[in-house]
Amino acid sequence: MPPLVRSPQPSAPAQPATGVTETIPFPRPEETPVESVVESSPVTEAAQRAPEIGPTGRPMPDFPEPRPVGARTRARVVSMCNQKGGVGKTTTTINLGASLAEFGRKVLLVDFDPQGSLSVGLGLNPHEMDLSIYNLLMQRDIELADVVVPTGVPGMDLLPSNIDLSAAEVQLVHEVAREQTLQRVLAPALSDYDVILIDCQPSLGLLTVNALTASDGVIVPLECEYFALRGVALLKTTIDKVRERLNPGLEIDGVLGTMFDGRTLHSREVMERLVQAWGDKVFHTVIRRTVKFSDATVAGEPITAYASSSTGAGHYRQLAREVLTRWPAE
Ligand SMILES: Nc1ncnc2c1ncn2[C@@H]1O[C@H](COP(=O)(O)OP(=O)(O)O)[C@@H](O)[C@H]1O
Ligand SMILES: [Mg+2]
Repeated sequence: MPPLVRSPQPSAPAQPATGVTETIPFPRPEETPVESVVESSPVTEAAQRAPEIGPTGRPMPDFPEPRPVGARTRARVVSMCNQKGGVGKTTTTINLGASLAEFGRKVLLVDFDPQGSLSVGLGLNPHEMDLSIYNLLMQRDIELADVVVPTGVPGMDLLPSNIDLSAAEVQLVHEVAREQTLQRVLAPALSDYDVILIDCQPSLGLLTVNALTASDGVIVPLECEYFALRGVALLKTTIDKVRERLNPGLEIDGVLGTMFDGRTLHSREVMERLVQAWGDKVFHTVIRRTVKFSDATVAGEPITAYASSSTGAGHYRQLAREVLTRWPAE
């Protein structure tokens, strides 16, 4: 099938409310007339120009509004990966996906965790699934289109999963090219989507290795808690091994601080250590702790739909803008 060519802004996605308080845009040159700069005192000028320090302790840049996508080339495939559970992988997959869809990207979410939280979080019943990603991986006569389902978010589809997927991990061990199975089944989707986000299970086993092998990039969500930093070295070793042996193009797109509480010194210290360890890989965007995320999960919706003007929705829209500045131009 030839790549679809879309006119800019096909269905003019609704202008999202940002709800983000810590992003103060840099004054743009055209907004600061030369006379006013000349007349103002150096102190005022410095104050005007100094960018606000963001939650990571670094100056917060201004991320531009994403440009409409032109002719689609090939989807960027990105895994949400951390062998620790409860760090925000699934929440980030749903909400980053929904935010990218709001910005006009065609998005496929891949539930690659046998717990099926992504599928449940989008309102699916794990017991009522006819076909899941398990069938796609294990049965050659099943095609991607047989398994993909639309979500309530326009422009965002889902490859669902349930507990059946845990059997795939065992069965795949005996397959030829067992690490490339997901890459093979996702290949037909590359020309149909702009972004494919894979929600990994909390382990570094064969399913996660499959996800990393199929990916161009990895996003590592990390809870802003002291123990979050444990195990990160092992994750990095795994990513390095996959890059060396299976997927030389694999990049770390970024490390995302989640469940941040700016009122606690603790959260800020964890962010500081993250920046020491990962430098520029740490996203300027940080996701704060709010109960709205669990409420949205119960409602089976992304927070961008459930509480569109909440700060949580604003943070994920900002992450989408930041991510788009990091990815190679579409
Ligand atoms: N920023 C946040 N603030 C508060 N709760 C959150 C936040 N992000 C995720 N959660 C909640 O924490 C739990 C674990 O998040 P989840 O995304 O499922 O993690 P993982 O996929 O890494 O196991 C879920 O109940 C989710 O609703
Ligand atoms: Mg999860």
